[in-house]
Amino acid sequence: MREPDELAHYARGSPRDSNSLGGSTATPEHDRHGAKQPYRFDPARAGALDDRARFAYLPPAELFALLGAPKGSTVVDFGTGTGTYAIELARERPDLRVVALDEQQAMLDNLLAKLAPAPVKNLHVVMARTPAARALEGKVERVLAINVLHELGDEALEELLALPGRGGRILLVDWNAAAEREVGPPRDHVYAPKEAADRLVGTGFKVEGEKLFRYHYALWGR
Ligand SMILES: C[S@@+](CC[C@H](N)C(=O)[O-])C[C@H]1O[C@@H](n2cnc3c(N)ncnc32)[C@H](O)[C@@H]1O
Repeated sequence: MREPDELAHYARGSPRDSNSLGGSTATPEHDRHGAKQPYRFDPARAGALDDRARFAYLPPAELFALLGAPKGSTVVDFGTGTGTYAIELARERPDLRVVALDEQQAMLDNLLAKLAPAPVKNLHVVMARTPAARALEGKVERVLAINVLHELGDEALEELLALPGRGGRILLVDWNAAAEREVGPPRDHVYAPKEAADRLVGTGFKVEGEKLFRYHYALWGR
């Protein structure tokens, strides 16, 4: 797939220049109607996303196997945060073009700062709802969304669902409201797997599989 003109690669141009992330730092606040969690992730807590203890209960290798990205394909990590899983994926699969997408500049700045000393050539950073993000609609082979569904209002969910092209697939992984856990958001801010599946099916999404992790569920489909 051709790289969209405005898709900035952090390793080219000036990563700290917000215009390089698709033309706008200030993405308009979405109508959050439909979101299970009433607020967005606070960038002040970004450090928690970099805690590698997460890999024990949500192993990257298992997620990437579920994702099943075809060789040479484009994968969008929707709501990438500090890019913890996007970086792992890009390093493990140099054949892929991994797009790390988020709606908060502070999160992407955090990711860019991590990449500065250790560039990853096949990882691209994109701000949500910019021309660069829109250029991806209907063109990507896989979408990964980790710990994001509960934050998405209906409009944002539609944006996520619009990304895959023909034959494309989405893997959503999120905290399980039904799991006993001392980590993660409050129970009433997240979904139980059936609730999540019902919300997705209500949009026309076809769930093709489900897997439970210690604290998370994964749902995939198209
Ligand atoms: C809990 S964090 C998870 C980050 C990352 N996926 C991880 O597991 O490390 C959720 C992220 O989703 C982002 N987000 C929420 N709504 C979004 C939207 N509509 N478009 C893009 N990113 C969004 C937030 O800014 C935040 O960085």
